[in-house]
Amino acid sequence: MKKTKLMGLLAGVLLACEAYAATAPEVKFDHGVDIRSFFESADGKGQPSPARANPDFDKPVWISVSNEDLKALGGEFSFPKREVLIQNPLISVFQVNTSELGVLSGIMHRKLHKCGGFFTHPSLESAKNDFLPAPTAAARAYTIDQRDQVLAMLKIVDEKDLTNTITRLSLYKNRYYTTQTGVAASKWLQTYWGELAAGRDDISVAAYRHGGWAQESVILTVRGSSEPQKIVVMGGHMDSIAGGGGDTIAPGADDNASGIAALTEAIRVIVASGYKPKKTLKFMGYSAEEVGLRGSQDIARAFKLEGAEIEGVIQLDMTNFNGSAEDIFLITDYTNAPQNAFLGSLIRSYTDYRLGETKCGYACSDHASWTKNGFAASFPFEASFKESNPYIHSARDTLSQSGGHSRHALKFAKLVIAYLVEMAK
Ligand code: BES
Ligand code: ZN
Repeated sequence: MKKTKLMGLLAGVLLACEAYAATAPEVKFDHGVDIRSFFESADGKGQPSPARANPDFDKPVWISVSNEDLKALGGEFSFPKREVLIQNPLISVFQVNTSELGVLSGIMHRKLHKCGGFFTHPSLESAKNDFLPAPTAAARAYTIDQRDQVLAMLKIVDEKDLTNTITRLSLYKNRYYTTQTGVAASKWLQTYWGELAAGRDDISVAAYRHGGWAQESVILTVRGSSEPQKIVVMGGHMDSIAGGGGDTIAPGADDNASGIAALTEAIRVIVASGYKPKKTLKFMGYSAEEVGLRGSQDIARAFKLEGAEIEGVIQLDMTNFNGSAEDIFLITDYTNAPQNAFLGSLIRSYTDYRLGETKCGYACSDHASWTKNGFAASFPFEASFKESNPYIHSARDTLSQSGGHSRHALKFAKLVIAYLVEMAK
């Protein structure tokens, strides 16, 4: 009886999400020439069976979900036979298997403009941490006084580079965290960032390996010349998802090849201009965001355990769909208000972009991993939440939905550059 009711509820939620997606106009899927098999075979490993390809298959994990989201899902939320393990007035914790995370993400995704998020934890202990209030980031002063340096770098930003990165990443069938193409996409990013950094011995690229799954996060470090222990983090997720996850067609052009493209262009401009920061810069392409912010959580937690001195964090996730009258929106929940105000000042000082504010209403991206670990994080976003790209998490999240160009994402590349120069001085 309970099982039937829950399954009906989940089916209803999936239908509601699909009904919303179906209101978007039909556009032909623009894969162009299919060179996927080329990239797949470049890995040289053939086609392993799904279970063997995925070391993260069917392991227990714990997810925390806000009670508000549970209520929105009908007051009761669970996979069949799954019980709430622990609960406080705000959060409930369930145990699920890793093989269910893609479906769970599908369920949570954008239920009629407002779907919830969830955190995936490697242990019940870690899930319990979500019951503690997030530590607040230490206050710091923000100043804007590097005009010549910033303007020199903004001059050489090139939209074509962003388009190339988005196109290249969307050619993978998907960049799901457990698939062969998901792994190949991470390797490609490591190689590409490495090529951009060639010739600079203060820049290195490393794969960040995660315990449970094959897709690595990617970290490019520009070592600070006078205060290298102080770190500025700029990141975005490199994985993609569609449907219930797995080996589906998920080009993820906007979500989130567009964020990776903005970061990649900032890296190219650093090298092309010969810019050397005083503090250390870290560019991060996170794995496994789409299944509960898993990659960024591993990393943010490790930085906290090390006692890393993080000056600030910005998240780039969805930058190329120009859905609102304003240009750049600052997400105001799970972010740091003083740093958000600083981003507003940067935009006013260095651009003529119109600024908006919006909320996700839940821990919708990797900035929340940093915020939960006590770091100051901000999230500049492409549109108001309601007017953001309706095609994400489907085969139709392609560059053509943004007009086949990267003019919107370019604004975010410029903001990243202004941010890093004014932060790392
Ligand atoms: N890019 C999205 C987050 C997003 C979507 C922000 C729409 C603003 C508007 C991100 O990749 C994502 O899909 N997040 C999940 C939650 C996550 C915790 C699994 C989501 O929004 O469902
Ligand atoms: Zn997403």
